Amino acid sequence: MGWSDWIRDGVEVEPSLYAADFMRLGAQIDALLGAGTKVFHFDIGDGHFVPPVTIGPVVLRSIAPAIQAAGGIVDCHLMVDDPAHHFEELAASGGDSVTFHVEATDDPAGVAAAARAHGLAVGVAFNPETSPGQAASFAAAAGAEIVLCMSIHPGYSGQPFMADAFARIALLRELITVPIQVDGGVGESNARETHEAGAALLVAGSAIFADPDPGAAYARIRAACL
Ligand code: DX5
Ligand code: ZN
Repeated sequence: MGWSDWIRDGVEVEPSLYAADFMRLGAQIDALLGAGTKVFHFDIGDGHFVPPVTIGPVVLRSIAPAIQAAGGIVDCHLMVDDPAHHFEELAASGGDSVTFHVEATDDPAGVAAAARAHGLAVGVAFNPETSPGQAASFAAAAGAEIVLCMSIHPGYSGQPFMADAFARIALLRELITVPIQVDGGVGESNARETHEAGAALLVAGSAIFADPDPGAAYARIRAACL
């Protein structure tokens, strides 16, 4: 199984669990599964690559079995300095895919091979300061199955979408053939434009979890793209 199996009708909306209400995490995941969510985005920040420590394997171990039993996957976004250090534990904790940053390593092929050795699908991510051209070269070296274009500076949910991301997505679309993921400030108002710029995977944190009904918010964002 891989991203070609995980993307339905050319677009998936990925709830970013970092923005969830952790007092009600299980209920919110159940509601999203009930609304049709298949791909959950799981943000791992180490306090070095990005300022905050976010969530990690302890939480992943609790949630992955229920998501996978419902036919879903957990897509791990590693906002960390040493991504390969985490692969064994993430794989053992139920992660399906890992996406590591261009800015975090000079060895895309080696890091990607380490991920695959643990049975993890491979994505690469790039920050707003990094050019789509650099990201495309790095992705080719990694043999990445998806490329994540950040539309915010990574670290926190709830930041506004950076409008220049549309042009960066469109440029990237010309340079790579694998699916493009976009993360940061995506919601109902800009999902369609983001998809039309060339993105197949739309990560949405606060747009889903700030809504009193996360399942309904997920469904509205997905419907906006179809
Ligand atoms: C933060 C994370 C994002 C974040 C998105 O850097 O990578 O996935 O949770 O949250 P929103 O959609 O609120 O920008
Ligand atoms: Zn993320």
